[in-house]
Amino acid sequence: MIRQEGKFFILDTEHTTYAFCINEIGYPEHLYYGKKIKLDQKTKDALVQPCEFAPGSVSVYDQNHKNMPLQDRCLEVSFQGKGDAREPFLRLVHADGSFTCDFTFESAVISRDREPLAELPCSYYADGEAMRLRICLVDKQYQMKLYLDYVVYEKEDVITRTARVENLGEEAVTIKQLMSAQLDFDSADYVISTFNGAWAREMGRNDMYLSAGKHVNGSELGTSSNTANPFFMLSKEHTTQEAGEVYGCNLVYSGNHREIFEVNEFGKLRVSFGMQYRDFSWRLGKGEMLEAPEAVMTYSDRGFNGMSANMHRFVREHIVRGTWKYKERPILLNSWEAAYFEINEKKLTKLAKAAKDVGIELFVMDDGWFGERDDDTTSLGDWEPNPKKLPNGIKGIASKVNDLGLDFGIWVEPEMVNEKSKLYAAHPDWVLEIPGKPHSEGRNQRILDLSNKEVQDYVIEAMTKVFSSANIAYVKWDMNRTMTDVYSQKLPHDRQGEVAHRYMLGLYRCMKELTEKFPGILFEGCASGGNRFDLGILSYFPQIWASDDTDAIARVTIQSGLSYGYPLNTIGAHVSGVPNHQTLRVTPIDTRFDVACFGCLGYECNLSDLSGEDLAAVKEQILLYKNYRRLFQFGRFYRSRSFEDAKGGSHGFLGELKGNLNQWTVVDEEGKQAVTMIVQKQVLPNMQTLKIKIPGLSPDVEYHFSNEAKKLDIKQFGDLVNTVSPVHIKPGSLTQSVVSRFVKLDGEKEDITACGELFENAGIYLSPAFGGTGFNEKTRVFQDYASRMYFLQSVENKG
Ligand code: DGJ
Repeated sequence: MIRQEGKFFILDTEHTTYAFCINEIGYPEHLYYGKKIKLDQKTKDALVQPCEFAPGSVSVYDQNHKNMPLQDRCLEVSFQGKGDAREPFLRLVHADGSFTCDFTFESAVISRDREPLAELPCSYYADGEAMRLRICLVDKQYQMKLYLDYVVYEKEDVITRTARVENLGEEAVTIKQLMSAQLDFDSADYVISTFNGAWAREMGRNDMYLSAGKHVNGSELGTSSNTANPFFMLSKEHTTQEAGEVYGCNLVYSGNHREIFEVNEFGKLRVSFGMQYRDFSWRLGKGEMLEAPEAVMTYSDRGFNGMSANMHRFVREHIVRGTWKYKERPILLNSWEAAYFEINEKKLTKLAKAAKDVGIELFVMDDGWFGERDDDTTSLGDWEPNPKKLPNGIKGIASKVNDLGLDFGIWVEPEMVNEKSKLYAAHPDWVLEIPGKPHSEGRNQRILDLSNKEVQDYVIEAMTKVFSSANIAYVKWDMNRTMTDVYSQKLPHDRQGEVAHRYMLGLYRCMKELTEKFPGILFEGCASGGNRFDLGILSYFPQIWASDDTDAIARVTIQSGLSYGYPLNTIGAHVSGVPNHQTLRVTPIDTRFDVACFGCLGYECNLSDLSGEDLAAVKEQILLYKNYRRLFQFGRFYRSRSFEDAKGGSHGFLGELKGNLNQWTVVDEEGKQAVTMIVQKQVLPNMQTLKIKIPGLSPDVEYHFSNEAKKLDIKQFGDLVNTVSPVHIKPGSLTQSVVSRFVKLDGEKEDITACGELFENAGIYLSPAFGGTGFNEKTRVFQDYASRMYFLQSVENKG
């Protein structure tokens, strides 16, 4: 609900209130964002910061407003030149060389009409599902307008913001910065959490306090990046997963971005975020408009899980769109880690056959199928199948896969070209590079200049040809390098500061046209794994490959990090072989599966090389996932204990205990069914007891809690078996192998029935873990990197 009451604007969602007013100089002044409050005439006034005399050594707005030091106000937008030293929301250079801006209130319109951004993706809603407030500000001295749009998603407790600047003057101006949102707090008492990392180490949560100065999080190399995701949080010091205040913010954008946190001399925390980057500079001609990407904000007083629940619902309902929005995603086998570039029809068909045998539904041919692509030095841009590898073309392999009863998917990297390619030879001017100057390389490839419409048209045409060349059900759209020597040969020298953003606009046009042309195809975004995991990509592609790291333990951190801002149905997660290709770590096959289940499950290994035992396990895994797929992909998700709890805490044994265990839970919408999964880093000696709490259940509903009892391999016990075995079994011997094939020990079986409130508040003890002092069928053998999945089913008709 949006209300205008005089100079006040009140934006209410189901559980939050956002309020601002137009102050006496006509600036929109931020008053409040947080838990829902009732605002009558008196309370509204009480929100306005009083000021009789400006603080010393601070400039005021003008002689008539000596009580208006902008430096000490919370504002919806801030500008340069009027005494406020913070990062401006809008920064520009006028034709006369000045950079002072002075935009004041002109009008406000509240409507239910949808109005998508012209060239950028943005959230969407059905008529009547959300409300929009448009504030128009006008510069008093120059002929420019600034429009601020607020969209209120009541049910999701989300408010989005966008900004557009319009030049109504005769002469061009240069925009140096246009942020998407500004969020000011009257105190700096917040923990700032950003999600940082690198290739194969994406989305590590990074918490910090800022007591003075400025902290900038963001990316400069052309993608939303694995170094700093645009999603961030602000929380109170004692906020936990279950309780406490937290704000979550994100940007619907896939390129360079900045999140700027500043604590000013009066202890205010002033935050702004948007697509800003160092070299940005945009020439805005007469009558032209520049739009900023949409910013997304949510607040919850129900801890990080509460905030994530809002974001998840918002992304599911208002970002992801198209055929696959609510559709369960198929279980796939991807050829990459199974074969890398060494693929051919025979090998792929064999893999697909093995996939079919275990119950996989979609087979994906990854890199290596086109041109002369035997390694990463050549052929990007030449999207013709290699006749030696695929003598019957894409159609041939696709029909073989289809004949096996599987869907067929394909890998492409449309934004790129290798120097060694026909495309580069024909169009050397189609790439981002400075002509005649040496180029910094990334994976031996160049980036196509998508700021150039001709190049966009080529990408759309080339991909249309590939996607319609066979029965293609899935496309993995990859992007494997960062931008260097950013320069478009199409644009004049004084517009090069526009290239990185124009590239994104061009990319979005390609994605829009292709997803509209091929509505049935399931697209999965990818950029060396998670180098572009953001809401811009998710506005076109319903899921993204989270990381090239398929190691289950590393994935716990990556997927946990992602889960703060993104729902599980957007996260691609695969089971791969061991030793893992990125870490050489060996983790149990159960753990690899249990972790990958919390996302869109796939496999990425040579199934033909798996042992009979592992293959049998995979078959069971797939059956299980199919049974619980909707829950895993679309259920309510909760984090409990986490590996990240280890940070900055206790030493010694308690230090080891903290952060050793990770627990994730999914609960269906009706609260009838749930799965909770624990995974641990390492065995802690003599630590048999483990109590877990299960969040998200209905308090009064009775649930049956159980696990799938596993059979234990005697090899796990080494020569300890000799304490009970009538014959001596030497570890590593043939006898051990033979016995291990026929003699299995029973794993523990959990069987507890209780009410949701007991599971959630008191918690339950799991069967005691092996502690070196005995073993029976009630012992939980829970070794390094072990995991367990537990199932909760509501007990119907409990009499
Ligand atoms: C990077 C991706 O993240 C991988 O999964 C794989 O598709 C390779 N590119 C192929 O070159």
